[in-house]
Amino acid sequence: MTQLEELLATWLPAQRWFAGKGTAIDTLRIDADHILLPGLPGLRLLVAEVVQGSRTDRYQVLLGMRAVGAVPDELVHAVIGTCPAPADLDSPAPVVVYDAAHDAAMTGHLLSWIAENRDVGAVRFRAAPGTEVRTGLRSLVITGEQSNTSLVYGEEYVLKMFRRLWPGTNPDLELTSALATVDSPHIARPHGWIDVDLVDPASGRTVPTTLAMLQTYLRSATDGWVLAATSVRDLYASPELAPSEAGGDFAGEAQRLGAATAAVHRDLARVLPTGVLSPEGQAHLAATMMARLHTAVDEVPELAPYAETLYSAFEALGNTSTDLPVQRIHGDYHLGQVVRTDAGWVLLDFEGEPAVPVSERQKLSSPLRDVAGMLRSFDYAARYQLVGRTDNPALVTAARAWAQRNREAFCAGYTRGGGIDPDLHQVVLRAFEYDKAVYEVLYEARHRPHWISIPLDSITALTG
Ligand SMILES: Nc1ncnc2c1ncn2[C@@H]1O[C@H](COP(=O)(O)OP(=O)(O)O)[C@@H](O)[C@H]1O
Ligand SMILES: [Mg+2]
Repeated sequence: MTQLEELLATWLPAQRWFAGKGTAIDTLRIDADHILLPGLPGLRLLVAEVVQGSRTDRYQVLLGMRAVGAVPDELVHAVIGTCPAPADLDSPAPVVVYDAAHDAAMTGHLLSWIAENRDVGAVRFRAAPGTEVRTGLRSLVITGEQSNTSLVYGEEYVLKMFRRLWPGTNPDLELTSALATVDSPHIARPHGWIDVDLVDPASGRTVPTTLAMLQTYLRSATDGWVLAATSVRDLYASPELAPSEAGGDFAGEAQRLGAATAAVHRDLARVLPTGVLSPEGQAHLAATMMARLHTAVDEVPELAPYAETLYSAFEALGNTSTDLPVQRIHGDYHLGQVVRTDAGWVLLDFEGEPAVPVSERQKLSSPLRDVAGMLRSFDYAARYQLVGRTDNPALVTAARAWAQRNREAFCAGYTRGGGIDPDLHQVVLRAFEYDKAVYEVLYEARHRPHWISIPLDSITALTG
């Protein structure tokens, strides 16, 4: 490895969005080094290929480069290290490299290049057709994100930089752009993107690959998870009340969120491909759910008493004799992916599960999978504040009542908003919900053991 590669191999694992946490890096190789601004200060777009045991991932790094001693104070926290200057600089003096997402002087160029539809070397900056992009806005990194890095430009735009790269158009850009063609009021409008060709190791072919997406910054947005958690907290303050009587009842919002979800599903089915999953396809889907259940029961013995009920639910899905309508869906749907604005609910992050290859995420699925995801999220919102307090029966009852009330409101909104009635598709919905809960049990067991009671309690309640 070069010195720069060594530096990145130390820096990457410390980043929140690094996907391979907990395993040592065997090798890191700079797969592509695109010079966006030559000389010093310089800007480069790197694609770093990271091998950790059997996994190989590619990450995008926007690398700033300055002379030693020329790094302003406000960028010191973003410094990656000092290494020899790259050959194109033709200089014996070392340079300081840093995460340029934090350097507003650099990121301003990204916005200008998008506005100008510019090709900078092999990197393509594009404005969405018919869009006039405002430039000259200063960017700030949004904190608190997990899998990507987003920059807010002057409260006007968000530029979401996809950190882990999969060959192809990112579904976030694909679905958001498709929904924009029918003027969906439930998305943040896309204004442009950045892409570059990347070789798909699976096929050996070169594929245009999304590096970043520019969309409207929603100034009045409040996170769905925060709103729901506030409502739960209000109820816990007076658990003797029914959720409908407590101060911060969420049911009206849950119902409107259901309706917004249905509208988005309808629009996606209108503008993108749809199909049906045959009974054999559903049997295959059920088999993957059963396999996950086996793994989970092996790892988490507390799940064993419920295994039979869970298994039967998957079997019921597998034994169907009717086709299941499928379409493009959100794919990673929960309260943290929706925001409430002055104009109603907006859905964000149509990326799907970032850990799954893009080719998988583009597959059609039942919209009930998204419904199940949101219902599980209501359950989490209701129960996570109970962790360590389950000895208080009034709170446990309140949590269940909150989850039930909002579940019903969401489903009613979904149906009234033109979605298929979840009540009439219990077999499919239950299988998705159970599968998600089993996934959560595994996830919590591996990453947050103190939260494992949340999905385990829900499984107890769901299968009871
Ligand atoms: N267009 C936007 N307007 C306002 N806030 C946004 C916007 N896009 C993202 N956010 C905020 O950033 C958070 C993370 O964005 P998201 O696209 O879900 O990124 P990630 O893939 O890292 O989860 C959102 O939950 C929301 O709070
Ligand atoms: Mg997200």
